[in-house]
Amino acid sequence: MASILLPRIMEIGAGALSRLPDVLTTLQSRRPLIVTDRMMVELGYVDRVRDVLAPLNIPVEVFADTVPEPTASSITAGVERVRQGDYDAIVALGGGSPIDSAKAIAVMGRHGGNIRDYAFPRQVNEPALPIIAVPTTAGTGSEATRFTIIADDDSDEKLLCVGASFMPVAALVDFELTLSLPARTTADTGIDAMTHAMEAYVSRKANPYSDQQALAAMRLIGPNLRRAYHDGQDREAREGMMLGATLAGVAFCNSSVALVHGMSRPIGAFFHVPHGLSNAMLLPAVTEYSIPSAGARYADCARALGFAGAGDDDGNANRKLLDALVSINQELRVPTPADFGIDRQHFFEVRHTMAEQALASGSPGNNPRVPDAAEIVTLYESLWD
Ligand SMILES: [Fe+2]
Repeated sequence: MASILLPRIMEIGAGALSRLPDVLTTLQSRRPLIVTDRMMVELGYVDRVRDVLAPLNIPVEVFADTVPEPTASSITAGVERVRQGDYDAIVALGGGSPIDSAKAIAVMGRHGGNIRDYAFPRQVNEPALPIIAVPTTAGTGSEATRFTIIADDDSDEKLLCVGASFMPVAALVDFELTLSLPARTTADTGIDAMTHAMEAYVSRKANPYSDQQALAAMRLIGPNLRRAYHDGQDREAREGMMLGATLAGVAFCNSSVALVHGMSRPIGAFFHVPHGLSNAMLLPAVTEYSIPSAGARYADCARALGFAGAGDDDGNANRKLLDALVSINQELRVPTPADFGIDRQHFFEVRHTMAEQALASGSPGNNPRVPDAAEIVTLYESLWD
């Protein structure tokens, strides 16, 4: 049996942002706080939201100080803002980092405390401010998940927080917001979405519902990832990636992510590698490691992504999957850890700590092949071969 959690309202397609006034009205919100980042202000996205909301004649306040790969201290000002204001909803506008920040602000602004108090394995289900998520990248899927990731300042650890409180009540999934994304962001976020769909499908928590969402996501992402990277104005590819990313979010929210994400978070925390990029660095090696325990499932992924055909047996399909993952990283110019500028000696010094943090997140335990700390260390080292 599977327990499924979804946003109550989803507006999907070109112009979905224009539905925001109706969504706020439905939710009886008259005092929303827009939580976003400086980039969204500079690029004019916040003005677009203001324009859309103008007919409602309500005050539109903005907190634009969220940061990439958020930490507990980075959201403190936002939490204070919510504690002192009388907001009745949060509009989370941006990529994964603003949305994840907004989720933590919505919960901690109501209930206080330290981010560690909310970390996995606790389930956070108490009422929080309703969140309306407006993603501007096709990647995180955060608009449709009950997760947020916030780093602890003291330990440099990325904490996974889980619970219904973090599930947006509404998601406005508008691919037109992604048309001007730079190619690098398109690649990193797109590979993140592909990883969500694959991990949801091979996870030990996979179920018939999450399987269908994951397969649908892979069918959309496989043919459109490279297209969107090479031509950002390709509306068909952008639409496919956006819906694919949201469906991948639905898939892993109701299944789980697995070893790639477990190992990716510590790399992000220690070396400030964007989330999608650290996933991309790990995906080929972790897939190769995991295939022996879930050959048929990975072969299904290869076929759904379009990297293998219906005529390929599982062995062939998995060889083609590994080839495709490597060639996508090359084509989308994913740097190696060395190319990214990570210091090899520092990486090797912290690899055991990273392995412990990966295990503590719980995600490796959902992988079809469950590694121990030593195997995770070996996988980290393999990134430098
Ligand atoms: Fe992710």
